Amino acid sequence: MREIQRIKTGIDGLDEMLNSGIPKGHIVTLTGPTGGGKTTVALQFTLSCLQQDLSCIYITTSQSPEYLIQMGNMFGWDFEKYMQSNQLEFKFILPVKIASTPTRRDLSYSRHINGIPYTIEVTSDYLARLPAALMESSVDVIVIDSITEFLLLCADEVERRGRVIHIMNIMKEKDSTGFIVKEESKEFSSVELLSDGVIKLERLVLTEKGESVNVMRIVKMRLTDHSKDIREYKITSEGIKIFSKFGII
Ligand SMILES: Nc1ncnc2c1ncn2[C@@H]1O[C@H](COP(=O)(O)OP(=O)(O)O)[C@@H](O)[C@H]1O
Ligand SMILES: [Mg+2]
Repeated sequence: MREIQRIKTGIDGLDEMLNSGIPKGHIVTLTGPTGGGKTTVALQFTLSCLQQDLSCIYITTSQSPEYLIQMGNMFGWDFEKYMQSNQLEFKFILPVKIASTPTRRDLSYSRHINGIPYTIEVTSDYLARLPAALMESSVDVIVIDSITEFLLLCADEVERRGRVIHIMNIMKEKDSTGFIVKEESKEFSSVELLSDGVIKLERLVLTEKGESVNVMRIVKMRLTDHSKDIREYKITSEGIKIFSKFGII
């Protein structure tokens, strides 16, 4: 049997939980609450991939590349070096456009303000631009931060699943490893179902005063044994650190 190649996430405790990393070629989804550290994990993983000589594209849908580079700098991560050598590309794809002559009406909702009705229309060709960007890419690792807007723009669950299968097929055909960030939601969506792996970040409220801890767990990871533990993590000045009963790993 051929040994599975693995990509280290760069987060020591997580790599240990994963039995030394994410299997190469997997599509892994990271879910979690706002401010839970998803972008931090995604950037830390990207840096680790770059350090392992893998080429990466980081598709960002809300924060600009400049912001992400600055965020990296705060953690001591130098992304510009890898951009200069063309090993890394940040691609900013804004999911919505407000057009005066809509090409396609994807979202429309009505509101009343002071009794006056008005309608907001959001138009987007993002559902076509995301797969097009993936099709153009030819890299070892594709990070999408985040997939949430793509899912929101789909009309229903059938369209959502079809489009998710489509973008995952593109990644598989390209032999790329995928890392998809998704805002947490109550239901287990098609993205999690279709991914090879799911890593979940959660905020547990411990006391009535609202004191909370962040925890991480691996919900699934195909083709590998992995820890089923729930581990506490913290966002520190050096990125994400995972704790065990015995302290930082
Ligand atoms: N140096 C730091 N030390 C501690 N916490 C930090 C630091 N930098 C950022 N954070 C925390 O990280 C959070 C944002 O993380 P981010 O990765 O953007 O989350 P998400 O993408 O899940 O919304 C901030 O709300 C802040 O609490
Ligand atoms: Mg984020």
